[in-house]
Amino acid sequence: MTRKVILDVDTGSDDACAILLAYLRPEIDLVAVCTVKGNQPIENTTENTLRVRDLLKADFPVYRGCSGSLVKTTVYPRIQRTQNADAIDANGEKVHIHTPLLPLPASTRKEEDIPAPIFYVNYLMNAKEPVTLVPVGPLTNLAVALTIEPEIVKNIEEIVIMGGGWNITNATIASEFNIYDDPEAAQKVLHCGAKITMVPLDATHTAYISQEDSDELKRINTPASLFAASQLDLRILVHDQAQPLEVPHTCALHDPLCIAYLIDPDVLQDVKFCNVEVSLGGVTEGQTVVDQRAIQENRNVYFAFRGDHEKFAKIFIDAFR
Ligand code: BDR
Ligand code: CA
Repeated sequence: MTRKVILDVDTGSDDACAILLAYLRPEIDLVAVCTVKGNQPIENTTENTLRVRDLLKADFPVYRGCSGSLVKTTVYPRIQRTQNADAIDANGEKVHIHTPLLPLPASTRKEEDIPAPIFYVNYLMNAKEPVTLVPVGPLTNLAVALTIEPEIVKNIEEIVIMGGGWNITNATIASEFNIYDDPEAAQKVLHCGAKITMVPLDATHTAYISQEDSDELKRINTPASLFAASQLDLRILVHDQAQPLEVPHTCALHDPLCIAYLIDPDVLQDVKFCNVEVSLGGVTEGQTVVDQRAIQENRNVYFAFRGDHEKFAKIFIDAFR
């Protein structure tokens, strides 16, 4: 049986790979893709998403979403990001883990006219069957939709969030980027009442993708696999220099791991049902605070502490065959 999915992306190298995986795997019925600012401004994340749609010759609708966070951009002072996601490539050039525009031709088709939060409300209030939401960028669109109409939860089967970190962080000393970028939105979504699975850095860094995996995609030699390999190579370069994983010449491929979980839940390991709260200020702003006591109240999130890299690599590569 296929699972209906709405992706919410700030495309981005790994977001692009998540779109490819969701579209190419037969287990997923990709209903729509919403965009949000995050890795890049909204103009770029939307254009990048449209470029990936063209690459796939796909016709799923794309809805442009929020251009700024709920509170963060208007309240001062807030903690500043200290993430290092740059590297020096073989030509001595400085590169970032997300290029402003993906190395694909300019898009040929536009996004829909309706903004993403309005699409969520319209679609979910009228849905005939529950749908799974997979936000892999800041959670602003969903928080706005939940503010407009909290009843949308009735038609959400599950929300699978790429975000957060327990032992691993990347944006600041305490926070992961997607949660750091809009902590108030994240806190709202975590308490909306839907089933929530969180795929944090602890899972994505252990479910790493290797140089051999990227080379296998090159051997498959399709436009989509070659593009995916180009993004993996960029990510491996940056991870090796700026965010090294346990195994050298590997990278985290955060966002597609959420899609892989929908195909095989065992790709996530050490999943604990816990109370998770988001810190909204001070040095821990954007931190996902995970209660691991035996007796606790308000459990709201299935939080994955590890991922299975072999299972993940197989699911990802098989999509391109
Ligand atoms: C998350 O931040 C973004 O840079 C990635 O696309 C991913 O969604 C990882 O912290
Ligand atoms: Ca992302």
